Amino acid sequence: MKRTHHCNELRKADAGSPANIVGWIDSVRDHGGILFIDLRDREGKTQLVLDPENSELTKIFGELKPESVIQASGEVHERDGDTVNVNLPTGEVEIHVVDLLIHNQSKTPPFPMDDEADRVGEELRLAYRYLDLRRPKNLETLKLRHKASKAIRDYFDANGFLDVETPMLFKSTPEGAREFLAPSRLNPGKFYALPQSPQQYKQMLMVAGVERYYQMARCFRDEDLRADRQPEFTQVDVEMSFIDREDMYGLIEGLLKKVWQETLGTEIETPFLRMPFEDAMNRFGSDKPDLRFGLEIKDFSDTFRESDFKVFSGTIASGGSVKAFNAKGLADLTQGELKHLEETAKSLGAKGLAFIKSENGEWKSPILKFLSQSEQNKLREDLSVEDGDIIFFAAGDWESSCNILGRVRLESATLLEKRGKIERSPTDWKFLWVIEFPLMSHDEEQGRYVATHHPFTSPVPEDIELLDSEPKKVRGQHYDIVLNGVELGGGSIRIHQPDLQKKVFEEILAIPADVVKSRFGYMLEAFTFGAPPHGGIALGLDRLVAILVGRDSIRDVIAFPKTQKGQDLMTDSPSVATDKQLRDLHIRSVLPESD
Ligand code: AMO
Ligand code: AMP
Repeated sequence: MKRTHHCNELRKADAGSPANIVGWIDSVRDHGGILFIDLRDREGKTQLVLDPENSELTKIFGELKPESVIQASGEVHERDGDTVNVNLPTGEVEIHVVDLLIHNQSKTPPFPMDDEADRVGEELRLAYRYLDLRRPKNLETLKLRHKASKAIRDYFDANGFLDVETPMLFKSTPEGAREFLAPSRLNPGKFYALPQSPQQYKQMLMVAGVERYYQMARCFRDEDLRADRQPEFTQVDVEMSFIDREDMYGLIEGLLKKVWQETLGTEIETPFLRMPFEDAMNRFGSDKPDLRFGLEIKDFSDTFRESDFKVFSGTIASGGSVKAFNAKGLADLTQGELKHLEETAKSLGAKGLAFIKSENGEWKSPILKFLSQSEQNKLREDLSVEDGDIIFFAAGDWESSCNILGRVRLESATLLEKRGKIERSPTDWKFLWVIEFPLMSHDEEQGRYVATHHPFTSPVPEDIELLDSEPKKVRGQHYDIVLNGVELGGGSIRIHQPDLQKKVFEEILAIPADVVKSRFGYMLEAFTFGAPPHGGIALGLDRLVAILVGRDSIRDVIAFPKTQKGQDLMTDSPSVATDKQLRDLHIRSVLPESD
């Protein structure tokens, strides 16, 4: 018995033809005289009809359970007018079954194979991920992910890129996140690290003369997991020789244009907006601003320099800034909502969240009595304050006041959206390049500079001379691609001069010379054998697909994701290794007392 059609294939024109289809039982119905089965496969559903006079078929029908796999053959019939299902592409036909075979009976599944399953806990769904994935919504997501990767591969192929695989067994890299180690049996006491990204290998491919490389690269980072972070994830990893930043912007804009066309059939506008990091922080309090709504932050340090409100003037006197934004129309927020915003500000280190409400023609605030009339006028004017608005303030060092208001801005947007006052449509595509990041930032804890992106990023040429005198002011040739508040990817033009790279490692990042030699010696040497100028980028494929299908979590677009605790509940991994395995690997586990 060979399958002749899938479950979304038969149409009115097929009436009278024989058909043989396979699939999962979506539902069975016994309508007195007639027996119905809705059969489902990856593509859709088809209705089967059984003659109740046929005792053999009736007997099998009696045994059928939902989600069992069956095969049915018979003849395609056009449905009577009043039984047509306009919601189903196959809704004008049905198969009158002659033969029915059960390939595999199903037990009762732990949750239904439709959207109802979203109500059961994610843990149960992940433990039975093969059933969770069987739900049409999830199979559609896998199909869209496939389409996106195919569009990406086609694009790079058409543009002369080579798909090169790089090792999964690598060594420690300095890219920030904690790594997964793999013990080497043949080299007792030594470990590989799984790659956080193929960064060093792709640069070596440039030295090798590959010129244009891409890879759908699996990356591993032992980070604290969140909705947009998994311990293993996929990057669309790219590197090119003989290019500048403009070339990279054009390449990625073309790529995303094609992906949107081929997955959603949507045209996106290019070129994308560009915004220096400093502007993004000043105006939106974030290096990945969501531009689907306004609520822009403004600086009032000049206004409050001499203020009687000491929290503000004191902060400014000690080098900090005072910033504010108008959460337009949110004066009606509840005590609970206000408290929540305050907690958010405090969780980021603020002492409080000063605010002024404008209600019934009056300004109300615990801090109003400290503010002069001219200070109030300045706020009213610069923030276009009207009745029903609320102003939020942050006073602190530049970075934390940006970050605090950035988060309060996002949470205010959520509250305003609930009230129907702003809209953040998932299909309002606001792409943005964030550029001109500082090459390094000072890490207070470590008391030294650390690379903002990674240590291979090249400084902006006109800033190179500041490397010694004012390293904080040096901008990197780093770019991030941001969409609706999500960092989709990031990359940079790299350093290809051995002397400059050595200087960045040893003098700027203060990595001891022997560590530089053991970690990056090969790279510094490679750059002495004809290294082309080069640059690249990596896009998070999981984040990209999640945005395309409008899902909040990348777990929803990965076939077999890990939980927040890094577990695969279906296979029950990670799991304990046997003593023999550990002995072979020259490893002993020392568990914490409480375990
Ligand atoms: P970066 O570390 O910015 O750059 O990573 C690039 C993109 O990868 C995605 N991403 C993740 N996705 C899911 N889970 C994670 N834990 C996770 N971590 C990162 C993000 C991010 O923007 N080698 C450089 C790129 C380069 O310079 O070419 C790199 O890895 O979407
Ligand atoms: P205080 O005079 O410290 O009681 O603060 C007065 C108001 O300012 C309170 O509403 C605090 O929540 C708020 N506040 C205090 N410190 C800051 C700050 N650094 N940024 C913004 N608001 C603050």
